[in-house]
Amino acid sequence: MGSILIIGSGAREHAIAWRLSKEGKDVFLSPGNGGTSLTWINKVLSKEDIESFCRVVGVDLIVVGPEKPLTEGICDFLRSKGFLVFGPSAEAARLEGSKVFAKSFMKRNNLPTANFVIYEEEESLKRHFNDCKYPVVVKADGLAAGKGVIVAHEKEEAINAVSFLKNNFPEASKYLIVEDCLVGKELSVFVLINDKGYAFLDNARDYKRLNDFDEGPNTGGMGSYSPVDDLIEFQFNKIQNDIIEPTIKALRKENISYQGVLYFGLMLTKEGPSILEFNCRFGDPEAQVLVPRILNFSELLYAVAKNEEIPKPIISNKKALSVVLAAKGYPTKPEIGKKIYIDKKVFEDENTIIFYAGVSRDGNDLFTSSGRVLNVVGMGNTFEEARIKAYDSIKYINFEGMHFRRDIGL
Ligand code: AMP
Ligand code: GLY
Repeated sequence: MGSILIIGSGAREHAIAWRLSKEGKDVFLSPGNGGTSLTWINKVLSKEDIESFCRVVGVDLIVVGPEKPLTEGICDFLRSKGFLVFGPSAEAARLEGSKVFAKSFMKRNNLPTANFVIYEEEESLKRHFNDCKYPVVVKADGLAAGKGVIVAHEKEEAINAVSFLKNNFPEASKYLIVEDCLVGKELSVFVLINDKGYAFLDNARDYKRLNDFDEGPNTGGMGSYSPVDDLIEFQFNKIQNDIIEPTIKALRKENISYQGVLYFGLMLTKEGPSILEFNCRFGDPEAQVLVPRILNFSELLYAVAKNEEIPKPIISNKKALSVVLAAKGYPTKPEIGKKIYIDKKVFEDENTIIFYAGVSRDGNDLFTSSGRVLNVVGMGNTFEEARIKAYDSIKYINFEGMHFRRDIGL
């Protein structure tokens, strides 16, 4: 056992590759990115090509990173070809792929979540905005590249949100959800699940807004840290007893077989933790601070994929903090094709890790190729150490228009 193919192209997939390599595994990525291709074989493979590639190079485990192939059923296809796969079936991935499915699942199983209404017909939806309580949250049912949720503070904004979603994501917006706006701190919780049981991995916090102090538009995530240490035991127990356990029970009750990681996006409200969303994969940029701290990562992935009992995760005591270096114009219109300068000194420190995302390569030169370019992760015995390490290391990196938040972990 030992060769693993990772599907995806972001810094999350780089973090998975990095950790598995540390554990002595041979790693391949499809498609990967210009940065990951410096270290591992990257290959652009169609779903059909994966089978022959894996047989030729002897891959025995396939790990699927992003939601799109998961919801399209890549795991079902690869399992039908006899491979061990880490990632849920298309049926189970509806927990992320359809908010109508996810919210209905939460409601019929009494899982705590914001009150909501589902609309197909636009006129009745607009009538809802006449007398609802603001702010209100408008969500597209389907995947919308992180742009499918809008918080509207008054009627006009809500009506504009509907037009934006219908125009930009017509398929994902056939059904829209309108729900109460929850207030609190957000938390991302990760749980490994298969038919034999489940294992709590750890939690992380993501910084979704573009600018310091949570200003500016929502993004895929501008930074993260793990573990989140401001949870009191009472909150932790409530998450376990009111959310994680009942969700697993509900999956079993509804005969939804889940083999992968379930990401609970939670809001810690005054009334208790509430589920904002389920994701059927590791978070990005949460994986960048979570995965490097999981010391028996490959053993866990294999156990999940083989449907064996999941061993206890061994999590390092180190704290990790990640800062995303983004391109100018992100998230709306990122400037790409800028040369990335990295002083080699940054690689000499074992407490700094660089994870590449929107990076292309020409020879030994790296260029920006999308909005979130790379992640700088600092590790330390305390958050202060991890934060200083990450921000000190950014000084060794530059590209035209580089933008990052300066308040991650503050
Ligand atoms: P989702 O894809 O449903 O997690 O939504 C993305 C982001 O929108 C969340 O991480 C929150 O920041 C925000 N959000 C979603 N639903 C709500 C809600 N009901 N109340 C407040 N914020 C929300
Ligand atoms: N960090 C948010 C996500 O991965 O969806």
